[in-house]
Order: sequence, then C-alpha cells, then structure tokens
Amino acid sequence: MAERRVLRMGDPDLLRVAEPVGTLGTPELESLVVDLWDTMAARGGIGLAATQIGVPLRVVVLGMEHSPRYPEAPPIPRTVLVNPVIEPLAQTTVDGWEGCLSVPGMRGLVPRWHHIRYRGVDPHGHPIDREVEGFHARVVQHECDHLDGILYPMRMRDLSRFGFEEELALAGRSATPG
Ligand code: NI
Repeated sequence: MAERRVLRMGDPDLLRVAEPVGTLGTPELESLVVDLWDTMAARGGIGLAATQIGVPLRVVVLGMEHSPRYPEAPPIPRTVLVNPVIEPLAQTTVDGWEGCLSVPGMRGLVPRWHHIRYRGVDPHGHPIDREVEGFHARVVQHECDHLDGILYPMRMRDLSRFGFEEELALAGRSATPG
C-alpha cells in the first residue's frame, strides 16, 4: 500500500515483455493493484501499467473523472485490467497527444486505433469486455503497450510533434488531446 517509484524511459525494465498473471485473487495481486492506484493518484496520471513500477506482470489500471493533464477528455471508468487483449474494430487510426508518467514533462502526437474491443479480467477473475472509441481507446492502447515494452514515442510517426509539455502549450500545439 504505497506510492512506488515510476521507472523512466531509458530504464531497460520498461522494455521487457510482461508475463500473464497466473493466479487471480491473491493478496499479492491485491497489493500490486493498490500500489498502482496510489502511485497513479500521487502523480496525477490517468493510467499506469505494472511494468512502470518494475513489476513484470500483465496488469494495468486506468480511469479518470477529470484530469487537469487532459482537461478536454471525457471520463473513463476506473478499471483494473489483468491479462488484457485488444482487438481493433476498424482500420481507422487517429492522431492524439499523449503523455506518460515514464516520460515526464513530454508530450507527443501518437496514432492509435479509433475503435477497439478490449477484454481481460479484473483481479478476481470477473471478465471485462468493452467496445470503446476515442480517448478511452487511446488510454487502453497506451497502457497495454507498456506490457509489451512499448513506450508511446516508439509509436510516433513524426518526431517533430514530440516535445516538452510547457513549450508545446506555449506554442498552442497540444491543447486538444485525444
Ligand atoms: Ni505511459
């Protein structure tokens, strides 16, 4: 039950592919989930993957009612997703601005599937199966990428759209996320 250190880009552990969770409902898994929520809240994030706190398991948390980091984004229900699988439901991708607690102070324009289905289980094994679009779909893709060792700059097509949050805001370039 604690805020944990968030690994930053350059740490090789962020590039590892995480292992599926084998046994659900364990105290260890519960405690990992609490740490993920605590760490995410302390940093003002809207999602966090276990790999970001150095735990190589396929677990992510995400959700927000309102984020000052993404003021125009719609709410996302608080969700713990274990062993997630993503399936694009259309070939359309959209560009949107993203940040990451492992890449502090930066933003980049990243293409993501617009419309996806995602499935997985919660920490007790109850199935999660959702069809989502837009910002919610973007956050799920971003977090699940962490489980495969992929950070958002690795998805970018145009690195001229990557920069420090403050500079981008001054230039009026990252006002509309998602
Ligand atoms: Ni991230």
